Amino acid sequence: MSGPRTAGEGVPRPLRIGAVTIDPPLVLGPMAGTTKRAYRLLCRRGGAGLVSGEMVSINGIAHGNERSFEMLRTFDGEHPVSLQLFGSSPELMPEAVAAAEEAGADVIDINMGCSVAKVRRSGAGVALMAEPEGAAALTSAAAGTATVPVTVKLRAGLTAGDEGYIELAQRLQDAGAAAVVIHARAASQGFGGPADWTHISRLVEALEVPVIGNGDVTEPEDARRMMRETGCAAVMVARAAWGRPWVFGRMAAALRGEAVPSEPDAAGRLGVALLHAQMLARDVGERIAMHQMRAHMHQYVRGLANARGFRSRANDVSTLDGLRRLIERYLAELRSTEDEPISHAASETQAKTP
Ligand SMILES: Cc1cc2nc3c(=O)[nH]c(=O)nc-3n(C[C@H](O)[C@H](O)[C@H](O)COP(=O)(O)O)c2cc1C
Repeated sequence: MSGPRTAGEGVPRPLRIGAVTIDPPLVLGPMAGTTKRAYRLLCRRGGAGLVSGEMVSINGIAHGNERSFEMLRTFDGEHPVSLQLFGSSPELMPEAVAAAEEAGADVIDINMGCSVAKVRRSGAGVALMAEPEGAAALTSAAAGTATVPVTVKLRAGLTAGDEGYIELAQRLQDAGAAAVVIHARAASQGFGGPADWTHISRLVEALEVPVIGNGDVTEPEDARRMMRETGCAAVMVARAAWGRPWVFGRMAAALRGEAVPSEPDAAGRLGVALLHAQMLARDVGERIAMHQMRAHMHQYVRGLANARGFRSRANDVSTLDGLRRLIERYLAELRSTEDEPISHAASETQAKTP
């Protein structure tokens, strides 16, 4: 395992965690309902070094819930992939770990950052940050049975100013966590206000294992700046990658200090969106795929002219053919107005789930 790096200049090395190499050190962050396997595959092709699945309940796995197992499935081409588990009962961990490994996990991540009320009330997600004993027991139950590295994903405390996350992370490291991901906002902040990267630097100082920094990396230069300023071993990107799976290639160029390729134009972006829809349809069937694609389509047109009109029409599409025709019409409309893309501000991303 490679240790944390010190902040400085130079091209960042790939991150090694156990037998897993994350190259480039750029990670697609887990997003519930979004980072499903078709999208993860696009992000890997787009340049991510590791992609994360949405959180899956260990209780669901213990109850043989079909949906939980379906959520765990992976595609051959997307490795390395991290599958994220959430729950609070250490005794359910070994079975969940076995299911995740069976599904193809190269890394298993434990969610300790989700503040959705239902998850929190069950003692899982961010509630574990208030229960260091329980959090350590859960981590050691996973790390003790897993053959792949186990990581944990934390918030920078429960409330702003709460520094308990540092001691907690040390404890989880002792319990077997092979790396720690930190979303540099306190749980009470949700997604509001800017992420404070000094929390990442502090964890890098405090831990032996690699730290993966997360929060507000939007543009290619942000990834480079986060590594330089905090000394983190890898950067995790969530919202800025939604509807922009190619962003990782652009960020990788920035990390190498090379010229950053420009954003694809509207036709390029919507070509990727259509490919996404086709992959999803092959995977889960056309009807479900078209339903799932709605939220993605909203993101693919972020910053394009008349995106609002496109989004409302995309909500009514129920077939691949319909989507293809809609995209063709929209591109023709854009060409005729010559009103081409403009900004891809992450602020337009609607964060629905904390
Ligand atoms: C729609 C959505 C769903 C999310 N789902 C998860 C999840 O399942 N597990 C998790 O650990 N974090 C989840 N997150 C948090 C992200 O992984 C990430 O920590 C957060 O968005 C900050 O990173 P960013 O600024 O790059 O978006 C989710 C975020 C969003 C916007």
